[in-house]
Amino acid sequence: MMVADIFTTLRGLLLVIPWALELVLMDLILSALLPVSYFFPNWVYNASSFVAFTNWNWIQMIFEVFNGGEINISGDELPEGESAIVISNHVSWTDFYMIQALAVRAGMLGRCRWFAKIELRWVPLLGWGIWAMGMPMVSRKWLKDKTELDRVFAGVVVRKWPTWLISFSEATRYTPKKYEDTKAWCKQNDRPIPKHLLYPRTKGFVTTVQHLRKAKHMKAVYDMTIAYEHNHTFLSAPTIWESLSCGDLSGKRGYKFHVDVKRILLDELPEDDAGLAKWLETRWMEKGEFLEAKREEWARS
Ligand SMILES: *[C@@H]1O[C@H](CO)[C@@H](O)[C@H](O)[C@H]1NC(C)=O
Ligand SMILES: *[C@@H]1O[C@H](CO)[C@@H](O)[C@H](O)[C@H]1NC(C)=O
Repeated sequence: MMVADIFTTLRGLLLVIPWALELVLMDLILSALLPVSYFFPNWVYNASSFVAFTNWNWIQMIFEVFNGGEINISGDELPEGESAIVISNHVSWTDFYMIQALAVRAGMLGRCRWFAKIELRWVPLLGWGIWAMGMPMVSRKWLKDKTELDRVFAGVVVRKWPTWLISFSEATRYTPKKYEDTKAWCKQNDRPIPKHLLYPRTKGFVTTVQHLRKAKHMKAVYDMTIAYEHNHTFLSAPTIWESLSCGDLSGKRGYKFHVDVKRILLDELPEDDAGLAKWLETRWMEKGEFLEAKREEWARS
């Protein structure tokens, strides 16, 4: 057991250190580009997308190729190079691999932009890199975030940047404890309770759709549903370190990974804010049913 642990640790370090060094280099480059973006925004957007692609593709390879994470992908076909608003449930760090798996296959990996916490802006290199890439850095207080969102939306709407703008609509990771809170909240507020999910935050989604639907190249919402199983525990995913250091994740280690995607054209979405909020709620109920079916399927196997 001890020997196996030491082996796994060494294996993890060998895989991660070169990648982490490139991450530092990438953040140095991106930080240097930050002032440049003021003068040449389009050029910096493309350059930062390329730099990010190399790093993200690398960590995706560690997960899928070296560590044998087999991701079952189901649902709608995603057109190559299409810009979209991406929403997903949030279970674990591993979610990034599930979303990136779809982005790689659609040729949009370098174009992924994630909602990030505003505090990161004060983290040297990493935070500046995120900032230079044009990721929205938000405090989740929507009035305060308005200028920041205008900045990000302008890149997409005015400059027509190809983008996957990704957010976790539940704002936080799913845990059984938080699920109890969500159930209580739904009962109090007379809302339906989605299975295996927290009730979604609608404000950010509504704001994003209402702004980005003005961009001609922004065609669709991709609704991703992520599921895991380990040792017959549903929604149990590997830790960050396990995902990077352990081989044979889907084989001997017994992890199961699934991501389902629905592609919904923006034109088909309701026009008004209340309609959009309701639409998101309905999606969440259907995602819950999908997750329940997946749980049963895995429980039988
Ligand atoms: C992938 O998921 C689908 C839908 O849940 C299921 O029907 C199929 O058997 C799965 N494939 C594998 C290889 O697990
Ligand atoms: C799997 O679950 C069983 C029973 O719940 C437990 O005894 C065992 O230690 C678990 N194995 C792993 C690898 O977590």
